[in-house]
Amino acid sequence: MRRLREIPPTAGLPLQAADLLPRRDALTATLATQLGAPPLQLECSGTAALLVALHALKARAPNRSVVVAPAYTCPLVAIAVHRMGLTLRLCDTRPGHWDLDPQALTQACREDTLAILPTHLAGLVADLDAPQEVARATGAFVIEDAAQALGAREGGQSVGLRGDIGFFSLAAGKGLSIFEGGLLVTRDSALRDELLAVSAAIVPRAPGWELRRSVELLGLAALYRPSLLRLAYGMPLRRALKRGDPVAAVGDDFASQIPFHRVGRWRRGVGTRAAARLPDFLAANRERAKARLTRLRALPGLTVFDEAPGTTGSWPFLLVLMPTATKADAALAALWTAGLGVSRLFVHALPDYAYLADRVPHDAMPHARDFAQRALTISNSAWLDDAGFEQICAVLGGPS
Ligand SMILES: Cc1ncc(COP(=O)(O)O)c(C=O)c1O
Repeated sequence: MRRLREIPPTAGLPLQAADLLPRRDALTATLATQLGAPPLQLECSGTAALLVALHALKARAPNRSVVVAPAYTCPLVAIAVHRMGLTLRLCDTRPGHWDLDPQALTQACREDTLAILPTHLAGLVADLDAPQEVARATGAFVIEDAAQALGAREGGQSVGLRGDIGFFSLAAGKGLSIFEGGLLVTRDSALRDELLAVSAAIVPRAPGWELRRSVELLGLAALYRPSLLRLAYGMPLRRALKRGDPVAAVGDDFASQIPFHRVGRWRRGVGTRAAARLPDFLAANRERAKARLTRLRALPGLTVFDEAPGTTGSWPFLLVLMPTATKADAALAALWTAGLGVSRLFVHALPDYAYLADRVPHDAMPHARDFAQRALTISNSAWLDDAGFEQICAVLGGPS
């Protein structure tokens, strides 16, 4: 029954039963070939990958202790920086965008800055020119946060390779997933060795965590379908919204503990099989996204985000900006629980999460806040059919 269908908020690559059979692990090799990238390093999450990257860079520049990140990004970034004992300095975004604002970035970076984190949100390639230039001028490193952008390219080259280090996420819903996972990439072979050495030194085997993730991956394989997603995604979402907790509804309420363990052979094998379908999956997602962007552009007042010239997105979802926060709230009131895969990307700019108050500077970040209040995401899952998409367009384009 249509009413019971639940479209996931992002286009995850659905697993098949055959993916779950034991298989030789070739996950990082398969993905490196697909991306045209040097060897990739697998970690247990994108956040863990970021921690390993920060460890390696800190060893190179022990006197630097500040990480500059966009004020509109995943709370896990703030949690990871804090966990490393580093200081987070936020940089406001460009007005009406999530890219780091070049002027604010210049002001935020000094000789104490260890790393700048330009972030490829929504599978779209972020501006790296300004971060690279500021990094060169101040001696900071650039870590490309490509957690949402596995498969995105600039000039034909995978994201993650222009900065010093890049990382991707393999979390549930992020295209290719092994429930939780992360990948590190760098074109600098010395740095690659250092990342491997850090990982070998600090990441434990922790079989309990791996067992838990394996069970969760089985659960994902079983439930990631429109007929069952209501159980795993829709019901918790509705419960959280009912108690007035949008942070929990979006899943922005992350624990302080960051699991740290090696990824086991079975999950790597599952990822290997699923990865074989990734190129076709990304191509189909891009075609669907492009067609739907044309329709969205016809709606009055909406800002629709597309690929910058010379770049290719990975298109997990479509990101739109409503003309006002009130209109965004009204659209969400109609769509968030409609089972159509409409959601927010992050509920707040980082300074506005109450639970992060002890880990995030309280500086005003007006552009990031405005972006958080007006941005909506529309699933790019193949399960969102044209009729469902038209329902969404009717709300986004209608008077409110
Ligand atoms: C922009 C961004 N950075 C970092 C992360 C952390 O990745 P993971 O969930 O794999 O730890 C995420 C995950 O949602 C993200 O969206």
